[in-house]
Amino acid sequence: MSAKIIDGKAISGQIKGEIAEETKKLKGKGIVPGLGFILVGDDPASRTYVRMKGKACEAVGFHSVTQKLPPDTTQAELMKWVTQFNLDPDISGFLVQLPLPDHLDETEVIEAVDPNKDVDCFNPYNVGRLPSGREAFAPCTPAGVIELLMRSGYDPAGRHVVIVGRSSIVGRPLATLLSRKAPGGNATVTLCHSRSGDLTYFLKQADIVVAAIGSPEMIHGDMIKPGCVVIDVGVNRVEVPKEVNEKGYRLVGDVHFDSAREVAEAITPVPGGVGPMTIAMLLKNTLRAAQRKA
Ligand SMILES: NC(=O)c1ccc[n+]([C@@H]2O[C@H](COP(=O)([O-])OP(=O)(O)OC[C@H]3O[C@@H](n4cnc5c(N)ncnc54)[C@H](OP(=O)(O)O)[C@@H]3O)[C@@H](O)[C@H]2O)c1
Repeated sequence: MSAKIIDGKAISGQIKGEIAEETKKLKGKGIVPGLGFILVGDDPASRTYVRMKGKACEAVGFHSVTQKLPPDTTQAELMKWVTQFNLDPDISGFLVQLPLPDHLDETEVIEAVDPNKDVDCFNPYNVGRLPSGREAFAPCTPAGVIELLMRSGYDPAGRHVVIVGRSSIVGRPLATLLSRKAPGGNATVTLCHSRSGDLTYFLKQADIVVAAIGSPEMIHGDMIKPGCVVIDVGVNRVEVPKEVNEKGYRLVGDVHFDSAREVAEAITPVPGGVGPMTIAMLLKNTLRAAQRKA
């Protein structure tokens, strides 16, 4: 068996098309959705992420602003920019790109973002509203995983989903969303982590596997149930000789794609699976912020 590929790039393209249509309607009312980024330091991955998100804004007709700050920015200076973005009427939503340099207090920054502009859904106010289904914004990567499943015909309702990884940005909010009595939810959820013991024991029971570990190609085909659906959130750089790839690395997920593909019914690739969906959900949250203001 060779699994169907769940094409996150194509599905996110559909969503962006829908967002662009809604943006046109808002612009007709004189409102342009605006997404802001605060980027501290020179981390190349963070720069790339912010650039990609900025491009995505352009593609759907949003206005975007990036405030770049030097690596030695003080906490006070950073907080000043957060306040400025909170108050800026042209910014519907914004995010402070993480991780921050070690000397900065991430928690203080996240808690200072106005919940009405918290399009990453990291502020504890928004996180706390998730279980009740009364959230303003959906956390981007978990929401992207659910949207991918729904739009490719794998509604999680009634299925057993095993998530590996319990981070506060992926695994845990995803478990919350999937277990809600709401569309995109109604799943039975098992949340595994580094202390779960025999992972294969849990994975073999999963109708849907979600890997969010940060460990290259850790889940192999012989660890999963035949016919399951595999969503690979992991993005890992693996070094390869420059003759193979001029960058000197390639991106792989947390799932060993070739072996899992032989066992699963459907699987997401890395790259081109969950990654583009995360950006699409960020745009969706920004649109929602602008619509709420309207
Ligand atoms: N595509 C996207 O848009 C997107 C977005 C976010 C993250 N990611 C990627 O997703 C991956 C996970 O990110 P994250 O921020 O959630 O990572 P994280 O904060 O490092 O969390 C990793 C989780 O994996 C668990 N884990 C580690 N080793 C394990 C093992 N051997 N067996 C079982 N569980 C294990 C950890 O368990 P403990 O809690 O016990 O330590 C932890 O809960 C990374 O590759 C990241 O780059 C992708």
